[in-house]
Amino acid sequence: MQAALKLAPMSAAEVLRQRIEARTARVGVVGLGYVGLPLALEFAKAGFSVTGIDLQEEKVARLNWGESYIQDVSSSLLVEMIDADRFSATSDFSVIADLDTINIAVPTPLRKTKDPDMSYVVSACQRVAEFMGPGKLVILESTTYPGTTDELVLPMLEQSGLQVGEDFFLCFSPERIDPGNPKYHTRNIPKVVGGITPTCTELGRLFYSQALEHVVPVSSTSVAEMVKLLENTFRMINIGLVNELAMMCDRMGINIWEVIDAAATKPFGFMPFYPGPGLGGHCIPIDPFYLSWKSKQAGIEARFIELAGYINGQMPHFVVDKVQNALNDRGKPVKGSHVHLLGVAYKRDIDDVRESPALDMMVLLDRKGARVTYSDPFVPTLRLGDRDLHSDAVSLCAKADCVLIATDHSAFDYAEILNGSQLIVDARNALRDQASTKIVRL
Ligand SMILES: NC(=O)c1ccc[n+]([C@@H]2O[C@H](COP(=O)([O-])OP(=O)(O)OC[C@H]3O[C@@H](n4cnc5c(N)ncnc54)[C@H](O)[C@@H]3O)[C@@H](O)[C@H]2O)c1
Repeated sequence: MQAALKLAPMSAAEVLRQRIEARTARVGVVGLGYVGLPLALEFAKAGFSVTGIDLQEEKVARLNWGESYIQDVSSSLLVEMIDADRFSATSDFSVIADLDTINIAVPTPLRKTKDPDMSYVVSACQRVAEFMGPGKLVILESTTYPGTTDELVLPMLEQSGLQVGEDFFLCFSPERIDPGNPKYHTRNIPKVVGGITPTCTELGRLFYSQALEHVVPVSSTSVAEMVKLLENTFRMINIGLVNELAMMCDRMGINIWEVIDAAATKPFGFMPFYPGPGLGGHCIPIDPFYLSWKSKQAGIEARFIELAGYINGQMPHFVVDKVQNALNDRGKPVKGSHVHLLGVAYKRDIDDVRESPALDMMVLLDRKGARVTYSDPFVPTLRLGDRDLHSDAVSLCAKADCVLIATDHSAFDYAEILNGSQLIVDARNALRDQASTKIVRL
C-alpha cells in the first residue's frame, strides 16, 4: 500500500497571494475621505468585495444609502457597487477580523506647533491591532514622516504576537490623488509601495496591480514615505520660489505671469509653477512639515521648507495689501468697503476649503473693517470663525467696491464679471486675456 501524500500547509503569504490573484480577498479601507473612498471603489470595480470603515456614522449612512459626498466619486458608481454586493460601509471595526487586506487612509494634520498630529493614525492602527489575525496585509496610505510604518505602526500590530513578513504583512503606499483632476485619478496614477520585508512589498505590489494600472515597488516603507514628502516638498518650495519672485516682480513693475510663460518655452530644465494667494488643501501646506519635524530629530534643520513656508504664508497678506492699495488708489478706504471674493475652495473646480488661503484673506479683510462676501459654486456655505456665510450670486460683483479672484473656477464667466465690476484684484491670472485698468494683477 502507498503512504498517503502529506502536503505541507501553505504559508500565510501563499494563501493571501492566491486570494488576491483570484480577487476573493476581502478588502477593507479605514477612513472614507478624499483618499479612502475612491480607493475602496476602485477595488470594488476590480471585482473585490470591499468594506469601508469610518468613525463618522453619518458618512457611513450616506454611503450605504448610495450617496457619495466626494466629488470625484459618482453616486451612480456607488449604487452599482452596493447592488453588486461589492461595497458596504460600517463604523464597526470588528469586521476587520474577517478582512484579508486593510488600507488605512485617515487624516495626518499638524498641531498648532506645526508638529505631526499622529492621533488619527494611532487610533486607527489600535483598532486594526485589536482585530489582527494571521494572513492579513495592512497598508498605511496616510502621508506621514519617514519611519512611521516601521517605528509606530509595526510595534502596534506586533502586539498580537504575530510575526511581520511571515504571519502578517505591512506596507506603506503614499496616495497621490489630485482631487478634481480630469485626467489623473486613483486608477491611472502610478502607485508606489514599500514593505517591511520583501514578501510584504511583493504582496503590496500584487494587491495594487489588481485594480491600478501601474505599481512601483520600492525597497522599504521609509523610501515609500519619503517619496511622497519629496513630491510635496518639491511643489511647496517651487511655489514658494515663484511667490517670492511674484513679490519682487510686483516691486519692479514686471508681469510675473508673462515671465513664467516665456520661461516655460524652454524645452528642458524648467518646469512652470505659478504664484497665488497662498497654499491650501490637506497636502502641500502640511506634509513638508512632517519632514522638517523628523529631520530636526535627526539633527538637520529643513531650511528650504521653513523658508518656503514663511514666504507662502505671506501671500494672503500680500494679496490683501493689494486690495487695500487698489481701493486707496480709487479714494476708498478698505474700512467700510465691500470686497466680494470669487472662489473660496483652495484650488480650481473642487469643493475643498481645508487650509484655503481665501479663508485667511477673508479674515484679514474682515479685520481691516471691510464687508466681505463670496461666490463659489462648489461651496454653498462656509464657517468663518463664529459666523456662517452663504455663497451669493456672482452678480453681486457689480455691487462690490472690489472683486477679489481668489480661486479661478472654470464656471465663472470672467468677461461678464469684468464688464460688471468696478475693480478686480486677480490673484490667479484668471483675466490673463483681458486688458483693462480695472484689473490689478498679482
Ligand atoms: N486629500 C488629498 O488630496 C490627499 C492626497 C494625497 C494624500 N492625502 C493623505 O491621505 C490621508 C487622508 O486624507 P483625506 O483627504 O482622505 O482625509 P479626509 O478627512 O477626507 O478623510 C479621512 C477620513 O478618515 C476618517 N477617520 C478619521 N479617524 C479615523 C479612525 N480612527 N478610524 C476610521 N476612520 C477615521 C474620517 O472620518 C474621514 O472620513 C492624509 O494623510 C492626507 O495627507 C490626501
